[in-house]
Amino acid sequence: MQIFLDTAEVDQIRTYAAWGVIDGVTTNPSLIAKSGRVFEEVIEEICAIVDGPISAEVTALDAEGMIAQAAPLAAIHPNVCIKVPLTPAGLQATRALRDKGTLVNVTLCFSANQALLAAKAGASFVSPFIGRLDDRGERGMALIEEIVRTYRNYPQFQTKVLVASVRNADHVRQSALVGADVSTIPPKIMDKMISHDLTDSGLAAFLADWENARTAERAPAS
Ligand code: E4P
Repeated sequence: MQIFLDTAEVDQIRTYAAWGVIDGVTTNPSLIAKSGRVFEEVIEEICAIVDGPISAEVTALDAEGMIAQAAPLAAIHPNVCIKVPLTPAGLQATRALRDKGTLVNVTLCFSANQALLAAKAGASFVSPFIGRLDDRGERGMALIEEIVRTYRNYPQFQTKVLVASVRNADHVRQSALVGADVSTIPPKIMDKMISHDLTDSGLAAFLADWENARTAERAPAS
């Protein structure tokens, strides 16, 4: 499974990219607004850090507006992946942008039928938001299972399932178990994924044993 970082904070992206496990980055208008920075500058900086799809979302609601907003973003770097909402206009823009060779991430997906339409429109990625479904008492992971099964029935589909709105490390574990292509992960969840108390205590014990052995070596023979 590919791992994308779900943030627009460039310093954090640098930190986690250094782990050598980051395949791409997703941003959205809320994350860009939270960064307090100029949209295009942030996207350009991220492209220089991570060599993989970098999602940049348009805000127009009509297809022509989406395509017009996409042009300068796509010109920043070939890895820029234009994010469009899962609406009729979004599907129309997806088809037009894909025909021009631009990567497209169709976002705000909440049903398998929506995901089917995104694949038919030629999306590079579809982003089902599992945390927002969990928030209202539904099981977001069930949607991922459905989309993965649906896409497997049609090998001609090129669309990757990008699990979004990830709220905890178990969402990532389950995404990998059901065979999702990508999970986009907030930095704090990366920290949860790597942490284990037995790793910490095991490392401390190894270092203590090593230090004791070195001390014994250095002690003069009596
Ligand atoms: C990523 O592409 C999405 O925009 C993001 O994962 C949404 O997460 P949220 O539901 O926590 O805002």
